[in-house]
Amino acid sequence: MSYIFDTHAHYDDEAFDMDRDALLESLKEHGIGAVVNVGASMKSCRTTKALTEKYPFVYGALGVHPNETADLTEADMEWIRTESADKKIVAIGEIGLDYYWDEPDRAIQKKWFVRQLALAKETGLPVIIHSRDAAKDTLDIMVSEHKGTTGGVIHCFSYETEMAREYLNMGYFLGIGGVLTFKNARKLKEVVEYAPMDRLVLETDCPYLAPVPYRGKRNSSLYLTKVVEAVAEIKGIPEEEVIRITTENARKLYRLT
Ligand code: NI
Repeated sequence: MSYIFDTHAHYDDEAFDMDRDALLESLKEHGIGAVVNVGASMKSCRTTKALTEKYPFVYGALGVHPNETADLTEADMEWIRTESADKKIVAIGEIGLDYYWDEPDRAIQKKWFVRQLALAKETGLPVIIHSRDAAKDTLDIMVSEHKGTTGGVIHCFSYETEMAREYLNMGYFLGIGGVLTFKNARKLKEVVEYAPMDRLVLETDCPYLAPVPYRGKRNSSLYLTKVVEAVAEIKGIPEEEVIRITTENARKLYRLT
């Protein structure tokens, strides 16, 4: 029996303060076998680390989201580098560029994106890329700073098929979540149709981006079955196949094989 692998979650978020332990403990019986909890600020890197220590099936990614980079220091990079030596830490992320919120200054976002890509190379870990309304700059930096090195995933992929082709050609995985079930997700449906099955991984980004019919509610790995259904329909394969292949992909991505 295969299980679902949630490649991107934020269970340290305060949205889970009321029932975090009960929820995480219930995942296995609902077919969720592994979760990567993803850091987004220095604070959440620390809480992510704590979750990986508490739950055998929770792995961690350490990195700082572009909108949280204003006060970063080299000492923070050193902390991440040291803590990443832990076997339960499987990626550097989430890192990237976000011009939707557009702060701090783009120059600062870019500086820390490049710095954390270097950190991925130093640690040998794959990257989790966050890119919103910043397609060209993200691609340019990925091509010049990371291509052909430690690999990774473009999380919550939100660009056109042409952009997907660029990342697939460089060997990256695409993270697919609740957005795929949204009515206005034509672009993402085209990307899923286009991408080879062996390059897709499932993610929640919970507590955000719950799939239909839970859109707007608190998301969790339990709702990934809705994303599985959507991928199965687009690809014309059984849901069980979607689960089996995406889990295999996730284990490759995070080198858990
Ligand atoms: Ni995220």
